[in-house]
Amino acid sequence: TKVGVLISGRGSNMQALLDACREEDFPAEIALVISNKAGAQGLDRAREAGVPAEFVDHTLFEAREAFEKAIDEKLREAGVKLVCLAGFMRILTPWFIDRWKDKLINIHPSLLPAFKGVSTHERAIESGVRIHGCTVHFVRPEMDDGPIIGQAAVPVMPGDDADTLARRVLEAEHRLYPACLKLVVEGKARVTAERVRMDPSTA
Ligand code: GRF
Repeated sequence: TKVGVLISGRGSNMQALLDACREEDFPAEIALVISNKAGAQGLDRAREAGVPAEFVDHTLFEAREAFEKAIDEKLREAGVKLVCLAGFMRILTPWFIDRWKDKLINIHPSLLPAFKGVSTHERAIESGVRIHGCTVHFVRPEMDDGPIIGQAAVPVMPGDDADTLARRVLEAEHRLYPACLKLVVEGKARVTAERVRMDPSTA
């Protein structure tokens, strides 16, 4: 299965997906990486790995949908069947989300539905939760919402600040995202009635 990855920055999750896809028995390959930021470190990482990587400048488009149409075309031209958002910092319109319904997944650095939006680690510490983590989910028009494919939990340690906590969560992200991508590609995590039904064989 050909996968497209949308990024805006560092691209460490994209790298984790790339590394997984290079394993011999992994059922997916990254066909295209697109960044809406020119200097995104992830673009360099993808190119180093020999993966087509393009910068699409959203500021050149007047409307959000025009930008998305450009991205959509590139993904389709590359034969992409599934899109992973990995630190992609543009809000997508219902048009794009609907076009890729149940073929568009995202990773969010919290245990959803807690801490939607930005600054999740700061807010987790602030709120006093003892368990934090990350979530991979199918994308729906509402931000950080949609059927949950998988979650990974990490402890909040005494003395943590947002950075130390973010690092612990990020390590979990790098394990969770490839695992969830695999489940989706293999058809073992499918959406029914807005919940992911997990194939019993995945237990
Ligand atoms: C990750 O924490 C991801 O969960 C969030 O943004 C960060 C992106 O990091 N959406 P990277 O670009 O994958 O390194």
